[in-house]
Amino acid sequence: MPSEVQAREMAEQEPLRFGIIGCGRIAPFHVDALLRVPGVRITAVADVVEAKAEQLAAQVEELSRQLELGGSAGPGGKVAVHTDYRELLARPDVDAVTICTPSGLHPRLGIDAARAGKHVLVEKPMSLTLRGADRLIEAARQSGVKLGVSFQNRFNPTIVRLRQVLESGRFGRLSHGVASVRWRRTPAYYQEDSWRGTWALDGGVLMNQAIHDIDLLQWMMGPVAEVSAMIATRYRPIEAEDVAVAAVRFTSGALGSIEAATTLEPADLEETLSIFGERGSVVVGGLALNRLEVWRFADMSPEEEGRTVVETEQAIRSVYGTGHRPLVADFCQAIRENREPLVTGEEGRRAVELVLAIYRSAETGRPVTMPLTEEAESIVKAQEALGIWP
Ligand SMILES: NC(=O)c1ccc[n+]([C@@H]2O[C@H](COP(=O)([O-])OP(=O)(O)OC[C@H]3O[C@@H](n4cnc5c(N)ncnc54)[C@H](O)[C@@H]3O)[C@@H](O)[C@H]2O)c1
Repeated sequence: MPSEVQAREMAEQEPLRFGIIGCGRIAPFHVDALLRVPGVRITAVADVVEAKAEQLAAQVEELSRQLELGGSAGPGGKVAVHTDYRELLARPDVDAVTICTPSGLHPRLGIDAARAGKHVLVEKPMSLTLRGADRLIEAARQSGVKLGVSFQNRFNPTIVRLRQVLESGRFGRLSHGVASVRWRRTPAYYQEDSWRGTWALDGGVLMNQAIHDIDLLQWMMGPVAEVSAMIATRYRPIEAEDVAVAAVRFTSGALGSIEAATTLEPADLEETLSIFGERGSVVVGGLALNRLEVWRFADMSPEEEGRTVVETEQAIRSVYGTGHRPLVADFCQAIRENREPLVTGEEGRRAVELVLAIYRSAETGRPVTMPLTEEAESIVKAQEALGIWP
């Protein structure tokens, strides 16, 4: 988050004007986060369903009023509503966009936005294919715009503290890391929005829910050398997987394990990241990585574990957590300071690559070595059929 001085300076600069593309469930988190960044305005929103765009525009106007941002929402305080995102991209009063549409559309929309000269913050996953991720990264580079990916859990106080201790070398050599997502997504969740769980637009629990944890596991443990995996669709009404297990070997020689499911009954259970090293063990858990379950180091004072648990615990209202505010603030600051955001396109691609390697291993029944060179056939075929293969 920006310091007070930085916040004042940001507020005094020219406003940074955002458009939001895709006005469904996650979009209000972007509205909430963007309007709290000093000097940021939301001038336009777009959704193929006009009523959804209008509803989000009304939320922007209402929150702008509550935060006393005056006419900041746009000319006369009104937010422009579009049903074609290309009209939003043609607006001169939009400097940057956040992309909150179904995942399979992210590369196409992101590339168009970058080519229109807009900075791009894209929801996770940035793409369901390597080709889409590469093309989006290249489009942003060529246009000289910033590209960020919405891995907001990197900003959780628990994860920030874990990353700090890891960088300090306090763990010693790492032996292994474990990521597990044990959540419940009901049949209604999938049936309400027809894109969910499809190969063309979403993928399964790995590509949608666990990609956050796959990103964090790699961020902590380093690059992956090899992966072996199995996936299954046990009883959720979807094309892609509702449960998956994977074994990973990192280039450091450490091992990793990933377990992800939306099949839990009768309720969400946990989202947990465990890191084990020569001189310490840390388990970040809670419903959504919001609580330290274990913080133990060989060189630790007796009170350190309790104190660290209290300092980093966060109450959350949903599994999306509270990270969108600091993530969005970092992205805006990156634009202002002409630096890279904390979560770059390359970082977003790394997580997609590991998910695709897991899919590839599951498809072939063989271990997959990295870097990955092949796409997942199920996704490519489905995207070709829909005409959205990038
Ligand atoms: N970071 C997180 O924790 C988090 C949480 C939830 C969702 N997400 C991601 O956000 C994205 C959206 O998820 P959601 O749950 O909000 O989905 P949603 O279905 O609720 O919303 C998507 C919206 O995009 C609109 N849309 C579809 N095609 C469009 C187009 N061509 N142009 C403009 N709008 C279009 C739909 O009408 C819909 O309103 C997904 O990629 C998802 O993975 C991220």
